[in-house]
Amino acid sequence: MRIHLSRSCCSLGTLRRSARQHTEAVLRFISSALVCWVCLLCACDGSVLPQNFIYPLFLHTKDYNEKIASMPGCERHSVDSVMKEVGEAVAEGVTNIILFPKIPDDVKTNAADACYDPAGLIPETIKKIKSAYGGRVNVWTDVALDPYSDQGHDGMVSSDKRGDGGRGRIMNDETIEQLCRQAICQARAGADVVAPSDMMDGRVGALRDALDSEGFTDVSIVSYTAKYASAFYGPFRDALDSAPRESSNAPPNKKTYQMDPANSREALIEAQLDAAEGADMLMVKPGMPYLDIIKLLKDNTNLPISAYHVSGEYAMMKAAAEKGWINERDVCLETLLCFKRAGADAILTYYAKQAARWINEDGLMRLKK
Ligand code: PBG
Repeated sequence: MRIHLSRSCCSLGTLRRSARQHTEAVLRFISSALVCWVCLLCACDGSVLPQNFIYPLFLHTKDYNEKIASMPGCERHSVDSVMKEVGEAVAEGVTNIILFPKIPDDVKTNAADACYDPAGLIPETIKKIKSAYGGRVNVWTDVALDPYSDQGHDGMVSSDKRGDGGRGRIMNDETIEQLCRQAICQARAGADVVAPSDMMDGRVGALRDALDSEGFTDVSIVSYTAKYASAFYGPFRDALDSAPRESSNAPPNKKTYQMDPANSREALIEAQLDAAEGADMLMVKPGMPYLDIIKLLKDNTNLPISAYHVSGEYAMMKAAAEKGWINERDVCLETLLCFKRAGADAILTYYAKQAARWINEDGLMRLKK
């Protein structure tokens, strides 16, 4: 199901192709809820609702769950546990989930070919979720090589030493070919939204063309448009064991392809490119320290904006809450509300299920005083 933003009932900007049709599934959304998916996600600025959330789930191939030390409350789920978790999220009104796989080391290579294995963890899990929950949940996927890369990079690393510090370079165009294979594989399994987090140049247009040429005009692209080279991703990299490897031929950081935290204007360039290449929604990441970027994009594009409330932000909140130094519920709901105020239509947060529960329990539509 493609989440059609170009012809939704909210008038969004000009997309690269304007003649897309609503799919049956989206029409069902519209007729059942009287508003389209976009309107649901974008519902009123001054409140935050479960429909605004995208719930990230870590999964692995084991048949039991593993706790993630730096992310209390999050786990690496078995596939069965993912199914249960999705059911609980849907019951709370969270209808968008995104999957992040922890892949065993022996499967990882520089080219990350396992990312398009149709029998892989992600495609198999998508199929299960879609067959159990069908149109009640939108399955988002991560498009990037890092979970499958033995270098811990989002792209392939060259064997030459022509990069910074006499190290290898990230191979932009070769990586994009792999990303297209990955996205097609995910779409074949039933993904509704592909979300490229890799930051290669030109990947949104290439993904749109690749998906369309395989008949997946219904699959949406949510682009990580302004993704910063941030220290806030540490706990996520623990969860997936996906940090750039010291042994890598490439630099042990992602600064050559992720954005400089000192730079805001580059976000505008990225937004223009992504819009022209056919992105359906733009993402800013991390979230809280980058509210100015959310506002900047909101004011300068007509596409919907999402914010990624990342692992380090979550970990800090959890740690302070565990110490009894903050009121977790109030701080969390205030934070999520602030994302909305800054201009985020959708919020990707590890708190999604819990926050939805708080909102539903209290009948909250607005942060309680
Ligand atoms: C990598 C990816 C990262 C996150 C999402 N996708 C980490 C990175 O860029 O190294 C971080 C999310 C978080 O910290 O919660 N493709």
